[in-house]
Amino acid sequence: MFDFLFLVFSSLRDLGMENGNGGNLQQLFQRLVAVIYDILQRLFFMVLSVGPIPNHIAFIMDGNRRYARTRKLGPGAGHKAGFSSLIRVLECCYKMGVKYVTVYAFSIDNFKRDPCEVQSIMDLMLEKIDELLREESIVNNHGIRINFFGDLKLLSKPVRMAAEKAMAETAKNTNVVLSVCVAYTSTNEIVHAVQESCKEKLARAQVISDVNAEIRNSFGGYTKPLEEEYSITLEDLERHIYSAEIPDPDILIRTSGETRLSNFLLWQTTFCYLHVLDALWPDISPWWLGWVILHYQRAKPYIDKNKAL
Ligand code: FPP
Repeated sequence: MFDFLFLVFSSLRDLGMENGNGGNLQQLFQRLVAVIYDILQRLFFMVLSVGPIPNHIAFIMDGNRRYARTRKLGPGAGHKAGFSSLIRVLECCYKMGVKYVTVYAFSIDNFKRDPCEVQSIMDLMLEKIDELLREESIVNNHGIRINFFGDLKLLSKPVRMAAEKAMAETAKNTNVVLSVCVAYTSTNEIVHAVQESCKEKLARAQVISDVNAEIRNSFGGYTKPLEEEYSITLEDLERHIYSAEIPDPDILIRTSGETRLSNFLLWQTTFCYLHVLDALWPDISPWWLGWVILHYQRAKPYIDKNKAL
């Protein structure tokens, strides 16, 4: 049923776009189709808003190269289409009131790909980050804050600088938070959190040891440090995880039919609703997203019950 609706609406929209170059009648038809499409989408969102809307959705944007291959497009075209898809999804999340969107844009393992492909993805990122910061962009129109999560020192200097600029320039935006995971794996994120926690504890242990030395010098005796002063706790790790400031995702969507987490947000997804879509990432539309949210709304009571245990 959903596949059928999706096909009808997409065909209507494409038909409208294809006929856009003709005369007045064709233009009118195109506008009509766009209006009907928009109304149907709004109605769909209204139906969805009767149930709980997720606060945070994470995406594994898989299937970009397959999209390009099946359409016989040139190298890089799949990832370019993938970025356009990300903008559509972001727009839709904004309209539905989803506050946090996190995407897996490039894993540390992706650096092992053909160097030309890695370079092409990095060039695309550089170009698109620049585009996102323009005045008329979706980021400025909707007040979107951009985070980059990952081991950013693995990026080339221009990409790292662009990422840092984007974070700084959008830091005050509050409507939606877009977190882009680049040079990221979850295990790397956890190791980073452990390392940061150790550094913090060591600095603290040094202060305590200096104070103890002073006490010893003044009064003699020995003050044994308390265990909580040097052991690493769950709270320490949670403070140093990249996503420390944002809530855990309610939904994780992976496209292209792959049923693996691929080292993405392992720390944050204990109570997350997972959904795998067969569609390739560049083919994702608001209808697909709405479809997943309907499933989430059905699963939510069960997830909440488990959370409370
Ligand atoms: C996985 O598909 C996707 C990537 C490796 C990169 C996706 C990057 C973007 C869409 C650009 C994001 C840019 C910004 C600025 C946020 P794949 O290449 O593994 O395709 P496959 O699954 O068909 O092999």
